[in-house]
Amino acid sequence: MTLKRLFIQNLRNLEGVDIHPSSRVNLIFGENGSGKTSVLEAINLLALGRSFRSHKHKPLIRHQQTAFTVFGRVHTDDESEVPIGINRSLDGEAQFKANGVMVASAADLASHLPVQVINSDTFSLLEGSPKVRRQFIDWLVFHVEPQFFPTWKAIQRCLKHRNSLLRRDRIDRFELASWDQELAALTEKIHEFRSACMLQFSESFSQLLGEFLTLDGIRLSYYRGWDKERNYSEVLTEGLERDQRLGYTHLGSHRADLKITVNGQDAAELLSRGQQKLLVCALKIAQGYVFNQITGRKSIYLVDDLPAELDDKHRQLLVHWLDTMQTQVFITGVEQETLLSSWRDKTDVVPKMFHVEQGRVREVSEILTSGLNE
Ligand SMILES: Nc1ncnc2c1ncn2[C@@H]1O[C@H](COP(=O)(O)OP(=O)(O)O)[C@@H](O)[C@H]1O
Ligand SMILES: [Mg+2]
Repeated sequence: MTLKRLFIQNLRNLEGVDIHPSSRVNLIFGENGSGKTSVLEAINLLALGRSFRSHKHKPLIRHQQTAFTVFGRVHTDDESEVPIGINRSLDGEAQFKANGVMVASAADLASHLPVQVINSDTFSLLEGSPKVRRQFIDWLVFHVEPQFFPTWKAIQRCLKHRNSLLRRDRIDRFELASWDQELAALTEKIHEFRSACMLQFSESFSQLLGEFLTLDGIRLSYYRGWDKERNYSEVLTEGLERDQRLGYTHLGSHRADLKITVNGQDAAELLSRGQQKLLVCALKIAQGYVFNQITGRKSIYLVDDLPAELDDKHRQLLVHWLDTMQTQVFITGVEQETLLSSWRDKTDVVPKMFHVEQGRVREVSEILTSGLNE
């Protein structure tokens, strides 16, 4: 799975970008504020229909413009080409297109372009809310289990109805029982999807972890969102009083989490910032690896401001793993030389380099010495 062409119009400070990325390594360099992260943001938009920086779409649209467009050609692993595109206007209107036809939602885009992001936000995976770790789990489940997304959507619908019932003064027991029954069946199903994926994931992760961190006792455990000794329909019945008091369903797959511990203690409390970053890198690499093992497909990696996030030694390690996976990567950084140096000893890959300057992106083949060639 590679992005062969990337076209961006009126996104942030990028007025018009049209590049042909390498199917392997793309190094994007330029001064702070030049537009590097915006290029990665464009790819993420294409992949997921949303930005990793903002939930709102207005800040994404270039000042004084009314819409942005991102278009890409995806070369699939079975050698076909799929054009995909997203367009969003100021009034909130969004259009997603894949293979020449409109698709209903961003989720329909997501299956075409599996993307993994490593940026400063990713590094708060351990200390952030369960939601971010749930999203992490679900990335893999979404991409390997076609029934995951419809099941997840149906659960959201059930929860919405159930929660609104809970808030009524008088609850219609019959109505509640029918929602509970449907919710319980769906919830057990999604738990099975998640636990199967996490089992496979934990194995690969343990093998990989040793390369990143010399630290014993790290354990991943998937929490389903309620007591594992109970079946979910019992949990709903027993928790009803509390749910009514709260006005929402307090246990369930929407509370799932990935608990990461070191000798039984929360990893976020114990590990240094640097160790946390390495652990997160290992998690991200393992995920792409397992995705590849299960599906035979490859995910694209977007790594923002690599030199700022990892020291030289660990940067080498991450680059080594990205190289081993033979997947397409986009890496940004301020200095061309620092980015390039990590790839020097990788003989089989010649990175493509893109220089970003005030919102313009151009491919360069030479080493730019600051101020001279520009
Ligand atoms: N909606 C917008 N319209 C025009 N410029 C914007 C918009 N949003 C952000 N910018 C500007 O775009 C520039 C690029 O930001 P960014 O991609 O984060 O740069 P980099 O990652 O290279 O530091 C910044 O200078 C920012 O002020
Ligand atoms: Mg940036």
